[in-house]
Amino acid sequence: MLIKKADDIPSSEITPKSLYLNRRKFLVAAGLAGAAAAAAKGILDIASPERAYAEEKIPNLQKSPFSTNEKITPEQTVANYNNYYEFSTEKDEPAKLATKFRTHPWKVKIEGDVSKKQEWDIDSILKFAPAEERIYRHRCVEGWSIVVPWIGFSLSELIKRADPLGKAKFVEFTTILDPSQMPGQTRNVLDWPYVEGLRMDEAMHPLTLLCFGMYGTTLPNQDGAPLRLVVPWKYGFKSAKAIVRIKFTEKQPVNTWNRSAPNEYGFYSNVNPNVDHPRWSQKTERRLGEFLKRPTLMFNGYDQVASLYSGMDLKKYF
Ligand code: MTE
Repeated sequence: MLIKKADDIPSSEITPKSLYLNRRKFLVAAGLAGAAAAAAKGILDIASPERAYAEEKIPNLQKSPFSTNEKITPEQTVANYNNYYEFSTEKDEPAKLATKFRTHPWKVKIEGDVSKKQEWDIDSILKFAPAEERIYRHRCVEGWSIVVPWIGFSLSELIKRADPLGKAKFVEFTTILDPSQMPGQTRNVLDWPYVEGLRMDEAMHPLTLLCFGMYGTTLPNQDGAPLRLVVPWKYGFKSAKAIVRIKFTEKQPVNTWNRSAPNEYGFYSNVNPNVDHPRWSQKTERRLGEFLKRPTLMFNGYDQVASLYSGMDLKKYF
């Protein structure tokens, strides 16, 4: 992706440099006995006050009718090939740089056009609805894709509880600003904090996932712990990680990548093989771990969202 005011040259390589031991195994091997013991308990221990180690098994996962039966990308690949500019512009670095990122305690502010502004603790949010496993295709604007068993529930469950006013037409998501923990935020690669947005009907669509886990456990830090979005019919950058504020607005939010390069990254950013990025084609993609490219599908194959955009010129509203 384009880097504004770049003082780092980004890597846009498609194949992972190498597959590292996943972080859970690494930490256990490194002798973090407390963390290992928590994981061994096999439960989501949401009571522990502060943890550098977030991956704990999530019990009683519900299956989702939205899941694809395509081959799941190996966990080690997904957890070691990340776009997370708050840590680094290199895809293999967030896994190493985020190990000590604090995900508890964690609060999420609910602001803007709502009947009552409030602040929710992550542990109360996790209880809003039963945790589901949703196996989604995930397509990055750079041309690579993965298939991931995410865990969460529809964002609509949170929106209903936030009780937005009738005039709220959009939802803005802001992610954490903490340069003391996130070395990328000490550089001007993007305007911090990272902001994303959805139109209200997109945010309310049942496919839009409020995500706190993957591969059976809570999210690894580099994948967006403790709370992120997953919007499977849009390019990956819409799926903001480490969310601390959800604001309901009348006006369309300005998302970080759109602010950085408006001619390259739109607000909608629906996966669309017919609308090329100015610097590369979007007709095909490379599934990580595969050699041959495959055709990219309209809306990433999630045809059920097409009606949200009927009558819209998707070349103009890219
Ligand atoms: N969220 C934040 N806060 N910071 C980021 O740099 N990168 C985005 C998105 N969410 C990003 C972010 C991009 S470009 C992609 S492709 C996905 O996260 C990658 O998610 P993954 O690392 O879990 O595959």
